[in-house]
Amino acid sequence: MMQLLFLKILHFRNYENLSIELHPRLNIFYGKNGSGKTNLVEAIYVLALTRSFRGVSDKVLIRSGVSLSKIEGDVKTGDFVNNFRIYLTKDGKKVQVNKNRVTKLSDYITKIPLVLFHPDDLKIIKDTPSTRRKLLNISISQYCLSYLKNLSNYNKILKQRNSYLKQLMINANKDYNYLNILNDKLINLGLKIYEERKNFVLKMNDMLAVYYQNITQLGPLCLEYKSSFAGKNKNDLLAMYKESLKKDLAFGKTNLGIHTDDLVFELSGHDLKEFGSEGQQKNAVIAYKLCELTFLKEMLGFYPILILDDLFSELDSEKIENIFKMLKKDVQTFITTTNLEFFKSLNLDYGKQFEIASGKIVREEFLDERK
Ligand SMILES: Nc1ncnc2c1ncn2[C@@H]1O[C@H](COP(=O)(O)OP(=O)(O)OP(=O)(O)O)[C@@H](O)[C@H]1O
Ligand SMILES: [Mg+2]
Repeated sequence: MMQLLFLKILHFRNYENLSIELHPRLNIFYGKNGSGKTNLVEAIYVLALTRSFRGVSDKVLIRSGVSLSKIEGDVKTGDFVNNFRIYLTKDGKKVQVNKNRVTKLSDYITKIPLVLFHPDDLKIIKDTPSTRRKLLNISISQYCLSYLKNLSNYNKILKQRNSYLKQLMINANKDYNYLNILNDKLINLGLKIYEERKNFVLKMNDMLAVYYQNITQLGPLCLEYKSSFAGKNKNDLLAMYKESLKKDLAFGKTNLGIHTDDLVFELSGHDLKEFGSEGQQKNAVIAYKLCELTFLKEMLGFYPILILDDLFSELDSEKIENIFKMLKKDVQTFITTTNLEFFKSLNLDYGKQFEIASGKIVREEFLDERK
């Protein structure tokens, strides 16, 4: 299993200086609104993935009035312990593993795999396809090293192609060879990304229905991956790009490719986006996340870290109990909540709870001792 042993934070968000030892199985952060619970799990996320899940720039993460922020943690995987550090400044960030600088962030990012649930995730199903592509990208890049690199190259070529289309619009006499080169590159990279996405969805579907059923007693839930690349080989795609050139020139952008992919959540054959209730959509997202956890275990050989930010304020107690039953003991889990009362009713005899107030831990308590 994978386990964060301790966390040290300096000048991150509303934290000045914090050092905590974490429980191998369950860590509950509780406190009032605005006390710093999400900031704390955000620090763990930033340590793992080098940026926030809140879609903000790095600058806002640094404590107001200060110019440098640092997060550090020891991560135990099997018998090995590695030290991870990230330094954030207004001009950029630096990461270290065992005090050695890692210059490429993409080499660092896959080292602490993590599954996160946060309240914005409830919009995954309702949001535009780009949100669901992001979900796929984060899931896959945690076990497939080449995926992130292919994706960033794809996006680079896509940008070049779009800007060249705009030039062609103005000057039709321009060279089409360059466009063909870009088409070729885009298709090669696109096919690799398509294959990874397809395989991921296929494997998730082996388990997803069971997970959803366990939480809600309903189903079946399944994912449908929609892509213009589906069932096409390179020659088909070259022809499709040729065919869509007129449209591309008219719009000044590339209409075809894996950057338009979508993921449909289907409950009993109906698209949850159009058909599902709020609760059904929420539970589908949660089933996805728990399923992802098990899938990553299969790919990596150990469970990633699990962070559940404010999940439990969103659900009825029956669903929460069902979810708790599904949490494996070899998954290190981090939970934030404003409502500790509910956890008391679960009578947990493992874990550690931390009370947070204004960016400080004001109380720590082991639940193990309650036995
Ligand atoms: N860069 C920063 N410097 C100082 N304080 C910050 C910074 N960024 C955010 N904060 C403060 O952090 C607090 C929010 O913390 P956080 O989002 O972790 O709250 P929370 O405990 O999760 O609350 P809730 O229960 O509402 O989700 C706010 O008071 C905000 O002013
Ligand atoms: Mg919060």
